[in-house]
Amino acid sequence: VNDTLHKMQIFVNAVLDGQWHGYTDKRITDVVNIGIGGSDLGPRMVVDALQAYQQQHLQVHFIANIDGTDISNTLEKLNPESTLFIIASKSFTTIETLTNAKTARNWLLNHLHDTKSVRHHFVAVSAKPERAIEFGIAKENVFAFWDWVGGRYSLWSAIGLPIALAIGMDNFHALLSGARSMDTHFRFQPLKANMPVIMALLTIWYNNFYQTTSETIIPYDEHLKLLPPYLQQLIMESNGKSINKDGNAIDYPTSPVIWGNVGSNGQHAFHQLLHQGQQIIPIDFIIALHNHHPLQEQHELLFANCLAQSQALLMGRTKTQAYNELLTEGINESNAKKLAPHKIISGNKPSNTIVMQELNPNSLGSLIALYEHKTFVEGIIWQINSFDQYGVELGKQAATKISAAITSGKGLKDFDSSTESLIEKFKQRS
Ligand code: F6P
Repeated sequence: VNDTLHKMQIFVNAVLDGQWHGYTDKRITDVVNIGIGGSDLGPRMVVDALQAYQQQHLQVHFIANIDGTDISNTLEKLNPESTLFIIASKSFTTIETLTNAKTARNWLLNHLHDTKSVRHHFVAVSAKPERAIEFGIAKENVFAFWDWVGGRYSLWSAIGLPIALAIGMDNFHALLSGARSMDTHFRFQPLKANMPVIMALLTIWYNNFYQTTSETIIPYDEHLKLLPPYLQQLIMESNGKSINKDGNAIDYPTSPVIWGNVGSNGQHAFHQLLHQGQQIIPIDFIIALHNHHPLQEQHELLFANCLAQSQALLMGRTKTQAYNELLTEGINESNAKKLAPHKIISGNKPSNTIVMQELNPNSLGSLIALYEHKTFVEGIIWQINSFDQYGVELGKQAATKISAAITSGKGLKDFDSSTESLIEKFKQRS
């Protein structure tokens, strides 16, 4: 681990100090991370969250989707002579990443016309370094990590290279240090004062004793807008299982569906259901006491709105309270009587409010590690393996077969009628 951190340090400093030059001797101005899932979501979320710590002279971009729109929209803005690509893939077999990497390499060679340019503009991060070298990445440009690092748990490893380039190696170490603080808390705190344990048991209490089916993450912080999609993979890919560690079917639900968006925007989108829907949907509100902008009055309003939501969810409003409020507003008794039932808020809806001093590398590292350990505790209690993801393989296999059928036009009868007709429709597109 320390060898890799040292290699990262040398590389990051060379790029940020302008020592690393492109093929035409230009310093690097843009880094493009090509990866998906755990090779994208964590670094993308952290880079977005820590914009206040963004290094000068360098922009970090992320490409993930096989949809050509993703890479086209990014590359059209960039100069190949000052662009460096990171191909991030634990397996180095993921079709989206390899396809985008080939497109990026063609884009570079269409401008520079010399395969010797690749070593100046491509590095790779993988647990299969030999496959990266086979792809054409110079051996000295490959950053390895290990099979024991789960993809969705990997931003602390060399997969975090775009983070270190974006915020500098010192801040990357601060991120690691924040995570270590939470690791230490988790390891040594008694259970009744142990944050990951308490949060995991709350999830199990609602999920398995109140039959809730989803949980929502609502960061009251624009810089944490990518936290919900990151936590979707961390939690749902770890604990969305039906078989226990012994290979036997389980007859109880495991991971809830994880979703969310930033506050205060959600108040004008989905909070209606949270307040008056019939479902109980536990919520994690996340907010910082201090922010990175000068508009203190707006931060006070943000904070007030965050607390107001959890308070309204808790206390609700009775029909009598609604009726009396309507009378106070000057509504006559007859209309107040009609309208009051529609304004009942049941209350007694659970939420956690996680408060940070400020969003910085250290606190973000602790927050991410908090959810990693929460996910681990849930998996232990549900007696499942939180570190495999066999459920994603069937879709990948099917995509390979369907792609071949689309290209060749053969074997359509091998598919179910729905898939066959949809392939036909695609092939007949004008
Ligand atoms: O979705 C399946 C998955 O294997 C994830 O677990 C992983 O984070 C992602 O695909 C990308 O995998 P790789 O880093 O090997 O390209």
